[in-house]
Order: sequence, then structure tokens, then C-alpha cells
Amino acid sequence: MPENKVSSTTKGIRIEGLHKRYGKGDTAVDALKDVNMEVAAGEVVGLVGPSGSGKSTLLKCLGAVIEPSGGRMTIGDQTIYDKGWKIKDIRALRRDSIGFVFQAPYLIPFLDVTDNIALLPMLAGVANAKSRALAVAMLQALDVAHRAKAMPSQLSGGEQQRVAIARALVNRPPVVLADEPTAPLDSTRALAVIRILGQMARQYETAIIVVTHDEKIIPTFKRIYHIRDGVTYEEAGEGREIG
Ligand SMILES: Nc1ncnc2c1ncn2[C@@H]1O[C@H](COP(=O)(O)OP(=O)(O)O)[C@@H](O)[C@H]1O
Ligand SMILES: [Mg+2]
Repeated sequence: MPENKVSSTTKGIRIEGLHKRYGKGDTAVDALKDVNMEVAAGEVVGLVGPSGSGKSTLLKCLGAVIEPSGGRMTIGDQTIYDKGWKIKDIRALRRDSIGFVFQAPYLIPFLDVTDNIALLPMLAGVANAKSRALAVAMLQALDVAHRAKAMPSQLSGGEQQRVAIARALVNRPPVVLADEPTAPLDSTRALAVIRILGQMARQYETAIIVVTHDEKIIPTFKRIYHIRDGVTYEEAGEGREIG
């Protein structure tokens, strides 16, 4: 694994009093006012809130895509942000320590399934053959190894989403952020994706945050964070087991 990754002995993510202001003066918008979250390694939590409540802003801050305006974020025992970035190489942090799963799989159409996944370790400096071996191992873990040589357009929606999850996890990031990962899927496929995320969280000790409106999957979370007007509230979920 890449050397500049946040140490694998560090676990979980913690956000305290996070604040994000867009713009200045009269037109400033405080998209995040007071966000507090703690997600342990191996845990999957839901993040639910109405349109405009700050979900995308929070994921962008967590993913180090935009800089917060205040508060603190830590991954394991490493401070990522504390009134300013505390990590020198933000791009390496983003690449090696944070995995993203989007609503659409965004697979690269001209690369086969294996190379779509292998690209991530390759970009992090892992040799090509080793990267492909890591990709194949992820495909096996997600039960799509038989599609390793297929092109993305040849896959079903559920298969594409599993490949996207494989890609998010291949560098074994301590944190995975999923933005509406089940929205385009039917009930069976959506629950399968959530089950896989749960298994992967436990297996790789990943902290996973799932932004969702999806009524099919909300009952599966053991803990849910609600966000409203840039403020988070924690709630115990139903944590309904899925077979
Ligand atoms: N780049 C931006 N510049 C100014 N305001 C923004 C920007 N992005 C989002 N906002 C505002 O921040 C608030 C939260 O937006 P967002 O994080 O996209 O919410 P959600 O994803 O929950 O719909 C909204 O009021 C939105 O209009
Ligand atoms: Mg949004």
C-alpha cells in the first residue's frame, strides 16, 4: 500500500463543530454550522437530510475536496483539519485515504472492469501487475470476478455498482463516502449493496458514511445522522438485519 496513506493503525473518523461558509459579506452562506459525527472503523452510518441541508458540502469537506471554515476533522489519531489543513499533501490524502461511491458508477467506458479498479492503486504508485492482482481480489470479494474482462457497458446496474464499490475500496481507505449509492437500484440490489458495504466495513475496518433518501435502506442503519440547515443530530436507527 502507498506510504503516504494515513497510517492503517489509525481508525475511524471524527468531526467536531465543523463549519463551512461559502462566499463573503452579505452573500455569505453558512452551509455547515455545527456538524458533529463519529464513525468507528467497521461501522456504516446513514446521513439523511432534505435538499439544501448541507449533505454534499459535508461530503466534500470530508473528502478534502473543499476546505472547511472551522472545526476539526480527524481520521484515527491523525488530525486532518483543525482551523486549517493539518496534512501537507491533500491530494494524496484524497487519493489514498478516502474512497468515494457515487449514485452513478462513473466507470471509465474504454477500460475493462479489472483496469477500472486497478487504475486506483496504479495512480498511487503500485506496479501494474500488483495493481491488477489487487483489483481481481476485490472483484472476488464482491462476487463479480466472472466479469473481470467485461467492459462497463456490458454489466447490469447492480454489477456496475459493485465494481464502483470495489474501486472505492481497493486502496483500503480508512474512510468511504457514499452519495446516494443505491438510488438507481431496485430493492433487492439496493439491499445487496448495503450488505456488501457492511461486510467490507468490517473486513477492512473502514468507516463508511452513506448519504441517502432511500426508504428501502434507511431501516438497515444502526445509527443515523440527520442534517438540517447545516446542523447534525444523531439518532439510533432500527438496524434491521438484512439477509
Ligand atoms: N458553491 C456554493 N456556493 C454558495 N453556496 C453553496 C454552494 N454549494 C452549496 N451552497 C449552498 O449551501 C447549502 C447546502 O448545500 P448542499 O451542501 O448542496 O446541500 P444538500 O447536498 O443537502 O442538498 C445550500 O443553501 C446551498 O445553496
Ligand atoms: Mg447534494
